[in-house]
Amino acid sequence: MTKLRIGVVGAGTIAQVEHIPNLIALHDLYDLAGVADPSAITRDFVTATWGVRGFDTPEALLAEPLDAILIASPDPLHRSQVLAALAKGLHVFCEKPLCYSPSEIGEIIAARDAAGRVVQVGTMKRFDPAYRLALDSLPGTAQTLRMISVEVNDPDAWPYVAHRPLKRGDDIDRALVAQAVAAQRAQVSEALGSVPSDLAYRGFTGAYSSSMVHDVNAVHGILERLGVPDGEVVGATIFADGEGGHGTVSLLGGKALWTMTHLAVPGLADYRERITVTFDDAVLELVFPSPYLNHQPTRLTIRTSDGHTARETELRPGYGEAFVEELRGFHAAITAGAPVVNTPEHAARDMALLVAMARRFMAGKG
Ligand SMILES: NC(=O)c1ccc[n+]([C@@H]2O[C@H](COP(=O)([O-])OP(=O)(O)OC[C@H]3O[C@@H](n4cnc5c(N)ncnc54)[C@H](O)[C@@H]3O)[C@@H](O)[C@H]2O)c1
Repeated sequence: MTKLRIGVVGAGTIAQVEHIPNLIALHDLYDLAGVADPSAITRDFVTATWGVRGFDTPEALLAEPLDAILIASPDPLHRSQVLAALAKGLHVFCEKPLCYSPSEIGEIIAARDAAGRVVQVGTMKRFDPAYRLALDSLPGTAQTLRMISVEVNDPDAWPYVAHRPLKRGDDIDRALVAQAVAAQRAQVSEALGSVPSDLAYRGFTGAYSSSMVHDVNAVHGILERLGVPDGEVVGATIFADGEGGHGTVSLLGGKALWTMTHLAVPGLADYRERITVTFDDAVLELVFPSPYLNHQPTRLTIRTSDGHTARETELRPGYGEAFVEELRGFHAAITAGAPVVNTPEHAARDMALLVAMARRFMAGKG
C-alpha cells in the first residue's frame, strides 16, 4: 500500500476531533507529517496529545516533502490555501464549504486540471454506509418522486465533543483574524452579487453554507441517482438571527418538491437530522446522528405497503464511519485512480443552490 505523506492546515475542532486521530489510525495509508495553525496554544496541545509536529504557518508546512494536504481552516481561507497547495503539486482534501461562489470553485477546478491532482471536498455524508445503501435501495424513480424533506436541529458540537481531547487557542494574531473576516465579507458579496444585510450574511455563511451544505450535497447525490435535474428555488428564508435557514425547491417542473430547514438550537444537547424521500407508494428515511459521534449508525428505513398492510424495514450496513471512509476514499483516488466521490464540481452545484436561496431571500421573495 502506498503511504501518503500528508499535512493538516488548521488544527481546530474538526481536525482534533476527526482528521488528526483518523489519519493517525489509518497509519497504513497516511504518514501525518505535521499540522499548521497560527495558535501556539493549539499547536502545543496537538503535539502533546498526538505527537504531531506543529508549524506556525501553512507555508512552513508546505515547505516539507508532502504528497497531500488536508485543509480544515476557517471557510474564507479555503480558496487561497487550496490554490497554494495545488501550485506545489499536492493532492488536496478541503473541508466544506470549498468556496462560497461557484466561480471561485471554477478557479480551483482549472488549477486542479492544470496540476493533474485530486481535489476532494469534506462533505462526508456521501461516505456514510447507510447513505450509500440508501442510494442503492431507493424505493422509487424520478417518475414516482413526490417530495424530499430535510429537517435539522443542531446544537453544534459542544455536547458531542466534550469527551474528546480538544483545545482551541485564543492566541491568534488579531490582524490575521481581521484579514479572514475581511476576506469572508468580500467573498460573500462576490458570491451573492451584492452586499448582504447582516441577517442574510449570517444565514448564508452559517445556516446555509456551513450546515445545510451537507444536506444539499446528500440530496444532490440522491437526485443524481434518480436522474432528476436541478430544480428551481421557489422559497427561501433566513430566521432565528441567521441561525435558521429554510429553502424550497420545485423539482421536475413542479411535480415534486424539496424542502429543507436547518436550525441551530444552541441550548439543547440533542441533535436531529432527517432526510425523507417520498415516492408515490414508498418512503425512504435517513436519520443521522451528530457527525461528531463516530461509528454511530445512521438509521435507514424504508416504508412500503401491500394492500392495507404497511411494512417498515430497517437496513443497517454496519458501523463504518463517514469521516474515516472519506480519508480511505481520498487515498484510493490518489493511489488507485478511484473516482473522486466529492468533487469540486459537486461543491459548485451545492453552492449554486445555496447562493440562489440566499439571493431569493435578499430579494424579499421569501
Ligand atoms: N465536515 C464536517 O462535518 C465539519 C464539521 C465542522 C467543521 N467543518 C469545517 O472545517 C473547517 C474548520 O472548522 P472548525 O470547526 O474546526 O473550526 P475551528 O475554528 O475550531 O478551527 C479552525 C482552526 O484554523 C486555525 N486557523 C485560523 N487562521 C488560520 C490560518 N490562516 N491558517 C491555518 N489555520 C488557521 C485556527 O487557529 C483554528 O485552530 C471549516 O471549514 C468548517 O466548515 C466541517
